Amino acid sequence: MADSEASSKILVSHANAHTYVKSVLQANGVSDPHAATVADCLVAADLRGVDTHGVNRIPSYLARIRQGVLDPTAEPTIKDITPVVAQVDAKNAFGFVAAKMAMARAIGMAVAFGIGMVSVKHSNHFGMSAWLVQQALDAGMMSLVFTNSSPALPVWGGKEKLMGVSPIACGAPGVEHDFILDMAPSVAARGKIYKAKRRGEKIPEDWALDKDGNRTDDPAAALEGVMLPMGGPKGSALSIMMDVFSGVLSGSAFAGHVTNPYDPSKPADVGHFLIALKPDLFLSSEEFKERMEYLYNRVINCEKMAGVDRIYFPGEIEQLTEAERRNSGIPYVEAEIEALNAEARRVGAPDLVVS
Ligand SMILES: NC(=O)c1ccc[n+]([C@@H]2O[C@H](COP(=O)([O-])OP(=O)(O)OC[C@H]3O[C@@H](n4cnc5c(N)ncnc54)[C@H](O)[C@@H]3O)[C@@H](O)[C@H]2O)c1
Repeated sequence: MADSEASSKILVSHANAHTYVKSVLQANGVSDPHAATVADCLVAADLRGVDTHGVNRIPSYLARIRQGVLDPTAEPTIKDITPVVAQVDAKNAFGFVAAKMAMARAIGMAVAFGIGMVSVKHSNHFGMSAWLVQQALDAGMMSLVFTNSSPALPVWGGKEKLMGVSPIACGAPGVEHDFILDMAPSVAARGKIYKAKRRGEKIPEDWALDKDGNRTDDPAAALEGVMLPMGGPKGSALSIMMDVFSGVLSGSAFAGHVTNPYDPSKPADVGHFLIALKPDLFLSSEEFKERMEYLYNRVINCEKMAGVDRIYFPGEIEQLTEAERRNSGIPYVEAEIEALNAEARRVGAPDLVVS
């Protein structure tokens, strides 16, 4: 973080951020374990530097609870389809809760049979995909994590919002460096535009078009327009892929019918798709990890292009950010803290403790 940027931020310990999220959710009718799950995921995003999908999302989730379009008391159900395939009906619970349950079952099936695949329907936004990849890594598993999301992106050649900025994520355990890819198929995640708007910042001109189809650096104008896909037709195709696996396959909304998490007028009906895979199916666990370490070293030690000081493995920048933020705290701006405390006051929960 640049010094000028750091000086305008207020630091909050991850423990205090977690306590805030848990208590404000409990005060809104969420059970203790589900509130803890949501807090784990949102704080994990802030720790990893994925600020777009962290604690600042709380007001949008609470607006959905107040409008009755996200059920804070719902308990997702799970049904086995085959020994290695299961289906979760989220029943309009938090996406975090349903996806965590799905990944736990996928891991259990992978332990027994080498692979587990779970489809999730009638769910909600689950924030940063990497926390599900991490759930699999914590169990020593490789994973694929897909979700669909509300329309934000034109398909290649189109100009209307149709596909979601739906992230594609996967992971594999290493010796010291796990591989974690977690990327939206747009030039930038839409959450980065919401964050710039919240913070009164401009955005790069290649992120989005305004409603008239012009490039813009104004986040408000960009939110009225469309996000640009990364790599033209390829980003557009990846977004359609997320919709096929998460929406079409699951029985959830698809083809532009998922509701925006900031639109509290109706349920979101998001679909997810998760796979856990045992890494020692074809080689011993030691061989697999040695090969991952070899790959890591080949990647980070390759010859650098002009102007590049260091090459990172996917997920490594976020790991370094997490190590730093666990010590120094998570940076928020004052307006964000005010918005969070307004939610706390609304339900008589304690303010976010700044430390
Ligand atoms: N749930 C949803 O509907 C939804 C929608 C959109 C985005 N998201 C989340 O938003 C987050 C941000 O997505 P994004 O596409 O903006 O991420 P990003 O562009 O910051 O990073 C994408 C990937 O590239 C890697 N990376 C980035 N810079 C790198 C570098 N210099 N060297 C090597 N690797 C590098 C990262 O480790 C990451 O795996 C993700 O966590 C995603 O899950 C969620």
